Amino acid sequence: MLIIKSVSEMILWRQHCDSSKPVVLIPTMGGLHQGHASLIKEAQCLHHPHQVVVSLFVNPLQFDRLTDLEHYPCSWDQDVEFLKQLKVDVLFAPDHDFTPRHMSINPGALAESFYGHIRPGHLRGVCSIVMKLFIVIRPHTAVFGRKDYQQLQLVKQLIIDFGFDIKIHPVATQRCASGVAISTRNARLSDEALNHKAPLIISSLKAAHQHAIHHQRITSAELIDFINDRFKTHDICPNIVEILHRHTLQKLDHPSPEGMIFVSVCIEGVDLIDHWDLNYSVTTQT
Ligand code: PAF
Repeated sequence: MLIIKSVSEMILWRQHCDSSKPVVLIPTMGGLHQGHASLIKEAQCLHHPHQVVVSLFVNPLQFDRLTDLEHYPCSWDQDVEFLKQLKVDVLFAPDHDFTPRHMSINPGALAESFYGHIRPGHLRGVCSIVMKLFIVIRPHTAVFGRKDYQQLQLVKQLIIDFGFDIKIHPVATQRCASGVAISTRNARLSDEALNHKAPLIISSLKAAHQHAIHHQRITSAELIDFINDRFKTHDICPNIVEILHRHTLQKLDHPSPEGMIFVSVCIEGVDLIDHWDLNYSVTTQT
């Protein structure tokens, strides 16, 4: 695996790499886990032959709290080994100078809901760094997990608005057997929280979906109360619960098949997010 640590090297590699092989980018912030492995495996199946580039950059612009940035796992040696095992072609790991110093992207209306309330500035930071990765690496395809659904929608919009010739390939959320969405942050939870509390996030969302099916005239506000009550009963602290339109990410007055439930909760001081698509069956979706 080739490891590239500067923008100039990456630009040079991109100019001289085999133009017959599409470049597929998987942007990450390290702390790699099975969720990332599934993104990489999907990327490797997309084009034959291909060149898979994984970027690893802990983007300070998307952390609104210094403590959150400080607690973000840094596992360079394991991450490099992990990527070698998966036969990734290139690891792009620029140093902190990669952070844009003066300018940023205003992500607009899609960033107003959900993260817009709980982490102001987070999505601006994500869009700014993703834009820079796109400019420097010039991938043909970029792979993003559906777990960060709002991020995925914003990246799609960024591509349209700025005219990038990049195809986005979304990958389903990877879950533990207990239903917990796999995330780098899970490593900060105790076994008790991971095995007993975190699974209540998805089970509460499924219960809410069933509840909405059985109460056809229920409002979003009532369904949100239903979810918050379940969280509180299980001693889980909700940061935010919203029912949003799947494309516009604007609030819906009533849950409907165009809607998705978005939640952020805090367990043992760790913020975890998940979502639930009201369009699909309660039992089959990931
Ligand atoms: O999803 C992530 O890990 C980050 O938000 C991303 C896309 C790598 C940008 O820093």
